[in-house]
Amino acid sequence: MTIRHFLDLSDAGAAAIAAMLADAAARKTARAALPKGAVDPDRPLAGRTLAMIFEKNSTRTRVSFDMAMRQLGGTTLILDAGTTQLGRGETVADTARVLSRMVDAIMIRTDDHAKIVEMARHATVPVINGLTDASHPCQIMADMQTVIERRGSLAGSKWAWFGDGNNVLHSIIEAGSLMGFDVWWACPDGYKPSEEVVATARQRVLGTPNADSITEALGWEAAAEEADVIVTDTWISMGQKHAEEKLAAMMPYQVTEAVMAAAKPNATFLHCLPAHRGEEVVDAVIDGPQSAIWDEAENRLHAQKSVLLWCFGKL
Ligand code: CP
Ligand code: NVA
Repeated sequence: MTIRHFLDLSDAGAAAIAAMLADAAARKTARAALPKGAVDPDRPLAGRTLAMIFEKNSTRTRVSFDMAMRQLGGTTLILDAGTTQLGRGETVADTARVLSRMVDAIMIRTDDHAKIVEMARHATVPVINGLTDASHPCQIMADMQTVIERRGSLAGSKWAWFGDGNNVLHSIIEAGSLMGFDVWWACPDGYKPSEEVVATARQRVLGTPNADSITEALGWEAAAEEADVIVTDTWISMGQKHAEEKLAAMMPYQVTEAVMAAAKPNATFLHCLPAHRGEEVVDAVIDGPQSAIWDEAENRLHAQKSVLLWCFGKL
C-alpha cells in the first residue's frame, strides 16, 4: 500500500478529509464521559509508536498528538531536534531512514517545508506535518471540526482571514478549495499569502460551482461582510523577527468588535493560538461570546486522532 503521508490537506483529498472529520466528531462524542487518559475501547493503534520531532516550540501540537496516540492505544517519543543528531547536521534523509526502522510514524514541526518533503521521500512510515513555514494542515482539521460543530457544515460558509498571509492562511485556502467553502483574506501589502498557494487553490475550483471561492478582499470590510467565520493569527510567526514596521502595517487588520459587527450576527471567531492579545485581536473578541477558541484548541486532539487513523490506513 502507498504510504499515507499527511504533509498537506491535498495529500488526503476531500473524501478522506470528510471521513476524518466525521470520525473525529464520533470519537469525541463516544468518549465524552471518559477521563482524558483513558484509552478508546477499540484501541485502534495498539502497538504503534509515533515519533515527534520539534524544531520549534509547541504546546497544542505536542500535547494533542501525545494524548491522541495514548487514547488510540499507542505510544509516543518526543524528540527535541536540538538534542538529536539532526541538530548536529545528520541529514533529514538519514534520520528518516533510521526512524522508519524503529517507529511506526513520524510527526515533524520544522521551519522549512522542504525538510518534511525530504523526510517523506526517505521515510518508509507515514510523515505528518506538525507545522512548517508554508502550512499547518493539522490545525485546519481542528478548525473545520469546530466550524461544523458550530454551524452544521462547511459547504457554502464564508471564512474571512485578517492580518498576516502566513502558513495557517495557506492551509485554510487549501481547505476551502477542497471542501467547498469560501475563503477571503484581508492582508496588507507585502504580507499577502503565497501566489503559488492561491493559484493552486483557484486551479482546483476552476470550472466548478465554487470557482469564485478563493478571494483577496479589497479592505477588511469586504472580507468581514456576510462572513460566517472570522479568523486571524499572530502577526509574527515563529522564526520571524519582531519588526515594528510589520506590526504597524498589520494594525488596520486587527480583529476588533467592529470587524465582528460587520460579519454575520452569529459569526464564529477562530484563532489557532497562541494569541497576542491587543495585537491581532482585542480581548473583547477573543474572550467574547462568538469566540470558539477553546473548542478549537480541544479539537486539535480529536482531529489529530483521525489524521493518525487515516495515516495508518484505518480510515
Ligand atoms: N496552534 C498550534 O499549533 O499551537 P502550538 O504552537 O502550541 O502547537
Ligand atoms: N503562524 C504561527 C502559527 C503558530 C501555531 C507560527 O507559525 O508561528
